[in-house]
Amino acid sequence: MNMVEIITRKKLGYALTQAEIAYFAEGAAQHTVPDYQLAAMLMAIRLKGMNAEETTALTLAMRDSGDVADLSAIPGIKVDKHSTGGVGDTTTLVLAPLVAACGVPVAKMSGRGLGHTGGTLDKLESISGLTVEIGEEEFIRQVQETGIAVIGQTGSLAPADKTLYALRDVTSTVDSLPLIASSIMSKKLASGADAIVLDVKTGSGAIMQTLEESIQLGQAMVEIGALAGKPVTAVVTGMEQPLGTHVGNALEVKEAIDVLSGRTKGALLEVSLLLGSHMLVLANRCKTPEEGRGLLTEALESGRGLTKLKEMISAQRGDPACVDDVSLLPRSAVVREVKVGRSGYVAEMDTMALGLAAQAMGAGRMKKTDQLDYSVGFVLEVRIGDRVQPEDTLCVLHARNEEEADRAADAIRAAIAFSEEPVQAPPLWYAVITKDGVQRFD
Ligand code: URA
Ligand code: CA
Repeated sequence: MNMVEIITRKKLGYALTQAEIAYFAEGAAQHTVPDYQLAAMLMAIRLKGMNAEETTALTLAMRDSGDVADLSAIPGIKVDKHSTGGVGDTTTLVLAPLVAACGVPVAKMSGRGLGHTGGTLDKLESISGLTVEIGEEEFIRQVQETGIAVIGQTGSLAPADKTLYALRDVTSTVDSLPLIASSIMSKKLASGADAIVLDVKTGSGAIMQTLEESIQLGQAMVEIGALAGKPVTAVVTGMEQPLGTHVGNALEVKEAIDVLSGRTKGALLEVSLLLGSHMLVLANRCKTPEEGRGLLTEALESGRGLTKLKEMISAQRGDPACVDDVSLLPRSAVVREVKVGRSGYVAEMDTMALGLAAQAMGAGRMKKTDQLDYSVGFVLEVRIGDRVQPEDTLCVLHARNEEEADRAADAIRAAIAFSEEPVQAPPLWYAVITKDGVQRFD
């Protein structure tokens, strides 16, 4: 194989063979192809695209570039859930305990925050003592015993993606449908689940900002799943504004606990129930998402979901006391209310800018080695469509110091637009995609 020839063929728009794609993926994983050729190839793919066969071949080659977890020792159908990345997107911490409380094993490998989006592992680590670094054997034992574990990757899953993702970040090739689809699906297929529910975000805080592109991404991943023999359901949900009201690691844990305690309703709960209901369907726990929603609601109202979260925290060596007393979660030095300062209607949010504001406060990393401050972030008190008065609260900041609070207040103000005219709240979800087709709700 000759890498220059493969790059040339993609540059000219030809479909690559499975062997050529495997050579590229293996070269990325083993570092036998130099970064400059990998980068040129990524840009050729970004500009010329890939057909469904090529995208699937790339996904499978990336999956097979490292370990593939074997979860067969856990009885039942293991269903995973993955989000393409959002702000205030804490669905895992809400739905994983609810799904597990319905008797479906949740063996989940999650990720860390990336850019403006938060990561489940970082949120969980804000709980005192909790570890997400658990080996495969202990992971399997925990799921056998408690029905739930949410951990970091074990072994070396899809090392080709690790190399390529780092290069994409610095070569302006993140926003490529075949590269996103193969990146996500290679990791999901390697993590050993039997079926997968994907939360494809759309809107100002999403990797794909238009609805049509988001639906295409969902379709591509459902198709890869079908070709790889794993059922996949993709749900396209709105990221025109943060999903939950809380943005920041410990703050998002608090919101998840509030939801599981029945104290908080709203968008985070609704989207968690939707995704969870499709997980129950794929796990054959029920026939329809409506039935699934009923089962999850019962688990919520009976408190079984909250109990399951406590069991998981204890199993992962965390202190479960924060579930009964959220004031035990890390707290910031400065807590400050910001007023709206005008009247009108909340019209639009730049969700990516809101995520970046939280990152700048210390909730996310600017570089890989940065230490997070789990306590910081903000609670948004408005949503798109709300009618507001000057004295209403826009948000409550949780900051390390007054200067950072000032900067966050400015950034958050700049990210929210108002209108004199009434504004319609955007829908929480737009489409559900299965192998049978696309069901649209817009
Ligand atoms: N998340 C991933 O894991 N990969 C991508 O390419 C985009 C989002
Ligand atoms: Ca995430």
